[in-house]
Amino acid sequence: MSSTEIPFVTITELKDHVGKTIRLRGWVTGSRSSGGIAFLQLRDGTGTVQCIVEKTIGEDFETASHLGQESSVELTGTPRADERAPSGVEVDLSAVHVTQNVADYPISRKAHGTDFLMRHRHLWLRSPRQRAIMLVRATIIKAVRQFFDDDGYTLIDTPILSPGAAEGAGTLFHVDYFGEQVHLAQTGQLYLEAAALALGKVYCFGPTFRAEKSKTRRHLTEFWMVEPEVAFFELPDVEHLAERFLVHIVEAVLTTNRAELEILGRDVSKLEAIQLPFPRITYSAAVDRLRSDEMHEKLLALLASETKRLADMKAQHKQLESQESQVTKAWKKEKLGRELRELGDDIKRLEVEVGNLPAHIEDARNFEWGKDLGGDEETILSKEYDRPLIVTEYPKEAKAFYMKVNPDDPRTVLNLDVLAPEGYGEIIGGSQREDDFDTLVERMGEYDLGGEEYEWYLDLRRYGTVPHGGFGLGIERTVAWVCGLKHIRETSPFPRLLGRIYP
Ligand code: 4AD
Ligand code: MG
Repeated sequence: MSSTEIPFVTITELKDHVGKTIRLRGWVTGSRSSGGIAFLQLRDGTGTVQCIVEKTIGEDFETASHLGQESSVELTGTPRADERAPSGVEVDLSAVHVTQNVADYPISRKAHGTDFLMRHRHLWLRSPRQRAIMLVRATIIKAVRQFFDDDGYTLIDTPILSPGAAEGAGTLFHVDYFGEQVHLAQTGQLYLEAAALALGKVYCFGPTFRAEKSKTRRHLTEFWMVEPEVAFFELPDVEHLAERFLVHIVEAVLTTNRAELEILGRDVSKLEAIQLPFPRITYSAAVDRLRSDEMHEKLLALLASETKRLADMKAQHKQLESQESQVTKAWKKEKLGRELRELGDDIKRLEVEVGNLPAHIEDARNFEWGKDLGGDEETILSKEYDRPLIVTEYPKEAKAFYMKVNPDDPRTVLNLDVLAPEGYGEIIGGSQREDDFDTLVERMGEYDLGGEEYEWYLDLRRYGTVPHGGFGLGIERTVAWVCGLKHIRETSPFPRLLGRIYP
């Protein structure tokens, strides 16, 4: 068989080719040699495998022993079953062809700071952790589409260039549209409402833009949002849809991505707990809870335990430092250096949290009815449950103009926010929509909205208005929660944040 006839296989396919000659192509993540044997770690996007080269194969042995990290190669060899190998196989190589030998790959095994990694995002994506996150993200997106496609929803693509605002003028990105000022969509919802009255059950799924001027671990300026909208839906229907949808997403990841969740160190028992039904609480009850003596006691106890945890971490850091200064082996020093850096980052984060806690405890105790719940209040409330918490009926001043005024308590609207557990905060926002023409016009007036660009939206209340509603789920916040990430920036292949648009 001439070499060009030997089939290429991927690393995941190797186990089906044990004992046969195959070719592989990919990138070298590490190589070392000892005595007459060289070991190559190969990745190809589907997985990683160890390849073995013996000195007896000739000059390719020398080549294989001197390959830098991320060198691209084409290998010929024979897979052999090996129980100890993570992929179940190792490959004995007979030939090594180098496409490009790389000498100075910027991302080494040493620990790098976040800023450095973000500037090298195009390369950082190759690391096992980032790959795992992208795989989970892809599963979530597939599960999103599948859920709605299988449930009779029609996909509607809403425009990105929009004349009117929907989610507050403060976060608009402006675009010059042939001399007219328009902006990038903050949501597809208003258009989706038109589609729901045409088709019944619809959803849109695409990028959304918010000029968020705050640096938080939950905000991107460009993110993907999926929004269902349904004619004849009232608030309880929206709540039920949201909980079924989230259970479906988590189930899909648990079925598909066990290996990735392990790479990410995710505690899967936390995901397995995501079952129907989700707890529900009204905004007013949540405020009472925040202000209660019981909550106060609980937060004081949290402050004490977190203070102790911080002290323990600092002691551990000291101990690691002295260990590191004593070891001589380079790889051990590197490993300890990495651990130190990670622990150092965790300590810094916890220090800030503990430092802020007394203020948050006061804020909770004095929380005034009428304010929107902030990230800290969301965290405090959702930490009481092991599944997402549905908070309903917020004060109307705190929410968008299109939400239906609550007939039983006109200070509030018929909306919901779904707060993810473990302090991940709001992942879904939605509502029943104001379907009464006069009330909607009045509400728009309160927000200084109106004029020609909203006429079409008002038409929906002029011609065959019905109750309807839906919600929006942010993909990146969902990925952060499901993967257990500390910051939203790793959930997007090329995230856009305040002060960051490269690469
Ligand atoms: O609560 P929001 O603003 O709701 C809407 O846009 C509605 N029009 C949705 C609807 O009812 N059809 O945003 C919905 C979700 C949030 O819960 C959050 O998950 C995500 O979108 N989101 C963000 N994600 C990342 N970065 C940001 N800056 C985000 N802003 C909102
Ligand atoms: Mg919201």
